[in-house]
Amino acid sequence: SLVSMRLLLDHAAENNYGVPAFNVNNLEQVLSIMKAAEETESPVILQVSRGARSYAGENFVRHLILAATETWPQIPVCLHQDHGNSPATCYSAIRFGFTSVMMDGSLREDAKTPADFDYNAGVTREVVRVAHKIGVSVEGELGCLGSLETGKGDKEDGHGFEGTLSREQLLTDPSEAEAFVHATRVDALAVAIGTSHGAYKFKQKPTGDVLVISRIKEIHDKIPNTHIVMHGSSSVPEDLRLKINQFGGEIPETYGVPVEEIQKGIKNGVRKINIDTDLRLAWTAAVREVMGTKPSEFDPRTFLKPAMKAMQDVCRDRFVSFGTAGHA
Ligand code: G3H
Ligand code: 13P
Ligand code: NA
Ligand code: ZN
Repeated sequence: SLVSMRLLLDHAAENNYGVPAFNVNNLEQVLSIMKAAEETESPVILQVSRGARSYAGENFVRHLILAATETWPQIPVCLHQDHGNSPATCYSAIRFGFTSVMMDGSLREDAKTPADFDYNAGVTREVVRVAHKIGVSVEGELGCLGSLETGKGDKEDGHGFEGTLSREQLLTDPSEAEAFVHATRVDALAVAIGTSHGAYKFKQKPTGDVLVISRIKEIHDKIPNTHIVMHGSSSVPEDLRLKINQFGGEIPETYGVPVEEIQKGIKNGVRKINIDTDLRLAWTAAVREVMGTKPSEFDPRTFLKPAMKAMQDVCRDRFVSFGTAGHA
């Protein structure tokens, strides 16, 4: 059944686990995630970006998720708007039946210009007022996702901005987080601790120097009743990247967030872990392999079944590693 994010994450906090939030755009992604959740008895967060809503269309998004809850009535599912760029985006999601919305006021509505604290707190507070009246949860974001190596905000996905930022400008400030939660009453807060969106997070295997796990604890201590969210949490598995390249792809050497680092994050208060890139890589590796090895095939199902299996493998792995398994 469809549930709010607050309900899922309160349970995760009480039982010290994390919940992966997978981005979905289509039937195959929804099926892969739900099958992995069934296998591992895990609660699910399906998140939908603005791009996904326009790709599939509002009715398809809504009915894909309703089909999932009808097929697996025993699995709690949260339908979440990822990176809502304005109150209007969040309200339209709520009208379409989303049980949770992210009001990302860390950037202005164009998603390119940095926002000041007052703008961010203002739009987020406005969404919380409306959403909480009808039991919908709200995630906010404070800080700038981006690379501590280069000082670049993560512009690739249109979620960051120009120029080079200092370490302190990139990281979420714990006292500011406290003031933000006090002002907005958000259920969950996305924080910047050195992760960034997309496949190109780190040129070398990340260590404690590029991800600041200690900052999570400092933030959590200030806002113990607000659930911490880690965006840009794909691990960019090397085997998937190598398989893509083996079958004609060109993805240069790159690293994501190691699963062990996410596990440390969960120990320090992270409850929602956003993952999109890893499912994209799994899909692409599987489709390229079939296309490369079975050139006479043209039935889409011969490509999409292995793609689903590869995505399901990633999801199963995350449900188990994050401790979500067994909590549906
Ligand atoms: O944060 C971004 C997510 O990976 C969604 O990406 O906007 O291309 O759908 P998208
Ligand atoms: P990745 O690009 O690391 O998968 O992050 C996805 C994300 O944060 C969606 O909001
Ligand atoms: Na989100
Ligand atoms: Zn994100």
